Amino acid sequence: MNAIFFVGLITGIVTISAMFLFALAKLFSRHGGGGHVQDGYGYAVLITGCDSGFGYELAQCLDHKGFVVFAGCLSPEGAGAQTLATESSSNLKILKLDVTSDEDVQRAKKIVQENLPDKGLWAVVNNAGVTDWAEIEWSSIGDFRNMVDINLFGAIRTSSAFLPLIRASRGRMVYMSSIFAFFTCLNMGAYSVSKRGLEAFADCLRVEMASFGVKVSIIQPGNFGQATNILKIKTSLEIWEKLDEERKQIFNRQYIDLANQYYTATCQSGFKNADMVIDAMLHAVTAARPKYRYLLASATDTFFFMLFPYLPTVLTDAVMSFSSMYAKRVDMLYAK
Ligand SMILES: NC(=O)c1ccc[n+]([C@@H]2O[C@H](COP(=O)([O-])OP(=O)(O)OC[C@H]3O[C@@H](n4cnc5c(N)ncnc54)[C@H](OP(=O)(O)O)[C@@H]3O)[C@@H](O)[C@H]2O)c1
Repeated sequence: MNAIFFVGLITGIVTISAMFLFALAKLFSRHGGGGHVQDGYGYAVLITGCDSGFGYELAQCLDHKGFVVFAGCLSPEGAGAQTLATESSSNLKILKLDVTSDEDVQRAKKIVQENLPDKGLWAVVNNAGVTDWAEIEWSSIGDFRNMVDINLFGAIRTSSAFLPLIRASRGRMVYMSSIFAFFTCLNMGAYSVSKRGLEAFADCLRVEMASFGVKVSIIQPGNFGQATNILKIKTSLEIWEKLDEERKQIFNRQYIDLANQYYTATCQSGFKNADMVIDAMLHAVTAARPKYRYLLASATDTFFFMLFPYLPTVLTDAVMSFSSMYAKRVDMLYAK
């Protein structure tokens, strides 16, 4: 009884302290003064990953606001890029831009430099990204490398190339992270590694760039899987066939089926449109005082996301392991 009272008391104190710190942090959560870009005339913006999803929608919005938009696309001949080009003004230019390719990034930079409007390159939105779900033991080093190459090194490569142009305009760098940068849960190991690395990079860059008047913002969406093309649905059989004999003994087929159903259902419960994220991206690009971070998640995800940094690891792990899925997993491992 005493132990329960003690845990309740500690949790209460931690929660109230966290709320107080949160309120305080809110007061100082924006960059200091700077130019508000009322309309985009004369300014250019580069966005990566515009074939679909957030990148596609942001490219359209900024085009409507009069920006010269360099829309980086993985497949410029693909349906997404072609529709974007058709539905936009002549100020929007589709660039072939695979963020894992030095050659593509350098070619894109040359095109941008040769087509800059008078106010220069105002913002780079590092949006291109992929996701996948798998337990760490089901993933190969190649799976990790692919995720990090796109989500992390892709953004670093793009940033390094375009920073001189952004410094010249005292503009904006925007990074598309995820709540999974800091949520510790089943199946998101490789994605979390890539997004936590991305946030570390953006945080360091923000400090270095402040002296040049360049502002750096991080966008942290929750589950918008229904609103974009990010989800790659896979079958249990695909996962099963990747496992070696030892892992097949541990993670039996029934568990893989259950995990696949659970993951698919979770993804389908997310936000159905991307407006909240697009508004945040627009704010980061155009507001005089953009935020350091934009957290865009359900009330439950937001609550835990705000609380976790103030809790000891033993409690954050306990919250994660309370899920029914986690309990079923423990029962099913090694089962015949
Ligand atoms: N949707 C969510 O729930 C959610 C939540 C948190 C964070 N995010 C992040 O938001 C960003 C945008 O994702 P989204 O949800 O809009 O998904 P999306 O619709 O799949 O958009 C991602 C875009 O990046 C492109 N891409 C993939 N690999 C690339 C590469 N090597 N070089 C350049 N572009 C590449 C994709 O092209 P293809 O379509 O041709 O592959 C696609 O156009 C990602 O960084 C993602 O991690 C999304």
